[in-house]
Amino acid sequence: MLFYWIILLLMKSAESRDFNITGCLQKPSDLRYRAISDQKFVVSCDLLSEDPTVIFNSSHLDESQVQWFRQSSDGGVKMDFKNATSNPTLWGNALWFNPLKVQHSGTYVCINREKISPCINIFIVVETKNVADCSGDSENEKYLFISQGTSIACPGKDCYHHFQHSSVKWYKNGSKMKHHNIERPGLQFKGDKLVLRTVYDKDNGTYVCDYTLVDNSAQWQVRTVVEVIIIAKDTLNPPTVLYPSGETILEVELGQNIELECKAKFGFEMNASSSIQWYIETSENKELASKKRVHPKGLEGQIFNNVFTLMEIMEKDLRSHFICLAQNSIGNSTGMFRLKRKTEKGIYFLLALCCTITTLLGIILGSTLAYWRWIDLVLIYRYYLAKDETIGDCKEYDAFVSYAKPDPTVTDKALCNDEQFALEFLPQILENEYGYTLCLKERNILPGGAYTDDIVNALRRSRRAIMVLSPSYFKNTESLFELEAAVNTVLDDKTIKLILIQFEPFQEPQLLPQKVKKVLKILPRITWEISTSSTPNKLFSKKLWYCMPVKHTIRAKARKVMGQ
Ligand SMILES: *[C@@H]1O[C@H](CO)[C@@H](O)[C@H](O)[C@H]1NC(C)=O
Ligand SMILES: *[C@@H]1O[C@H](CO)[C@@H](O)[C@H](O)[C@H]1NC(C)=O
Ligand SMILES: *[C@@H]1O[C@H](CO)[C@@H](O)[C@H](O)[C@H]1NC(C)=O
Ligand SMILES: *[C@@H]1O[C@H](CO)[C@@H](O)[C@H](O)[C@H]1NC(C)=O
Ligand SMILES: *[C@@H]1O[C@H](CO)[C@@H](O)[C@H](O)[C@H]1NC(C)=O
Ligand SMILES: *[C@@H]1O[C@H](CO)[C@@H](O)[C@H](O)[C@H]1NC(C)=O
Ligand SMILES: *[C@@H]1O[C@H](CO)[C@@H](O)[C@H](O)[C@H]1NC(C)=O
Repeated sequence: MLFYWIILLLMKSAESRDFNITGCLQKPSDLRYRAISDQKFVVSCDLLSEDPTVIFNSSHLDESQVQWFRQSSDGGVKMDFKNATSNPTLWGNALWFNPLKVQHSGTYVCINREKISPCINIFIVVETKNVADCSGDSENEKYLFISQGTSIACPGKDCYHHFQHSSVKWYKNGSKMKHHNIERPGLQFKGDKLVLRTVYDKDNGTYVCDYTLVDNSAQWQVRTVVEVIIIAKDTLNPPTVLYPSGETILEVELGQNIELECKAKFGFEMNASSSIQWYIETSENKELASKKRVHPKGLEGQIFNNVFTLMEIMEKDLRSHFICLAQNSIGNSTGMFRLKRKTEKGIYFLLALCCTITTLLGIILGSTLAYWRWIDLVLIYRYYLAKDETIGDCKEYDAFVSYAKPDPTVTDKALCNDEQFALEFLPQILENEYGYTLCLKERNILPGGAYTDDIVNALRRSRRAIMVLSPSYFKNTESLFELEAAVNTVLDDKTIKLILIQFEPFQEPQLLPQKVKKVLKILPRITWEISTSSTPNKLFSKKLWYCMPVKHTIRAKARKVMGQ
């Protein structure tokens, strides 16, 4: 039996962790509170001095260091605060009742292990407003308009008015409020009230007003909590959609998902019925896709967003309007997204690239063609468009042909000599093919006249002078005379032009007149190449034709040549 009692005592002491609850519950109360029911109440595990500076500390970290017990019929019951919604609950070093009920009345015992202090016995009496004889409306939640002047009364000061009261002490967030506070200028105590000249947003917080009353020579502490919430005047404006502003086009790819974000700024509204909504509008209908309620409590307005996710972009979405509507009790505003296929840009880019490449290729091809076929182009131009140069110039021949008569002493083994070239090949090309009239000494100059005069006359009556140059040309005095005469005539008469044909490679003699030397140096030559293939001859013919005057009687024949 004794053993049982020892065990029981050990268990009790273990439970109370070396702390005599029974003793603590039986000792006279350290603190005696009177409080009004149905409001917030706070009590801390601290032996308060006569004029405490801190009555509770919410940022007290180690809550396990404080233990609370409540008196019951069989002694003390340890209080469990594991359930966060329990009432009362532990926050910081204090016990919070929210709301305080009449049945919370009783004795509470606590021990704070951080402080080597004895246990604290707290007696709380909770009474209703009627019992406490409270007169005015007690405002335990006070809404203050920012930037305005106001005062805060101690709500419990009206109660127990038939008892003797001390003056009120104010605490904010558990700390005593001072009369001359540098951190809070413009704050004054007037009687039991707090007077704020201007309300700032940092004035919010949990305020406590305490006073003592004497009831039948017993001292009681009366404590009331006032929650101060700073508000602004309700906005007079509808919200503004910040993004998308107006109509915003997004580039998308089909099949992908996309997040459409809408951002809107709302002015302060106390009882807000605000929302951000997404609508999808097609040509047929407009339907609500998403709605988010928002509570704009920011004093200078608050920005909210609502993100709408389109899981898979489809063809029809490209024709839809995605409308974001922000609404409060005053009105609404909208923003809009439209989707556009991203690849379009790519196509434009590709098109531009293709065009550029094609143009470049065209230019390169064109210039290559022009380079190789310049003569053809000029000939085509001359054939179709250029004016006939021969009309009305009073000339008889298109070209005078000067060549060297072969030296009869040299037996030429070449397939073709100068004379054959001048008397057979040239007339064949120029007269038969192109329709020009040549002046050949053998054919057109009648024998018997003065040789030099006849040559000069014939040159004067020609539009071109064709010189068939070869080594034998420069050994022949007659042809040398013709060359000099031609040069002189050309210098004299601008309508006649020299055409130099290099029939065979030659070394130009030193003894030529200066004028002739210069002309030979400056003027280009058309080189004759003996070939079995017809192509070089064709090119030679074209070059020669290019040097000849424009003459339109030859059209029919020329067309045949061009067509080849
Ligand atoms: C607890 O305190 C009470 C009253 O002070 C005393 O009678 C009792 O013996 C104490 N118990 C223990 C275990 O100390
Ligand atoms: C509240 O408790 C914290 C941590 O224990 C401490 O730093 C702070 O000074 C206390 N505040 C007051 C007002 O005593
Ligand atoms: C907390 O306590 C309340 C009643 O006091 C109860 O309804 C709730 O289920 C509890 N929650 C947990 C997590 O125990
Ligand atoms: C303490 O007061 C400040 C303003 O001074 C306030 O912002 C804060 O929320 C308060 N803290 C608590 C825990 O109420
Ligand atoms: C006071 O305002 C601050 C922000 O300014 C906020 O974090 C805090 O919760 C407010 N406290 C109360 C009691 O309203
Ligand atoms: C907000 O609503 C409450 C009741 O729900 C009402 O008493 C109060 O006047 C309203 N405040 C405003 C600013 O509309
Ligand atoms: C938005 O406001 C306009 C007037 O500005 C009103 O006609 C319209 O019905 C409102 N839209 C919604 C969805 O309330």
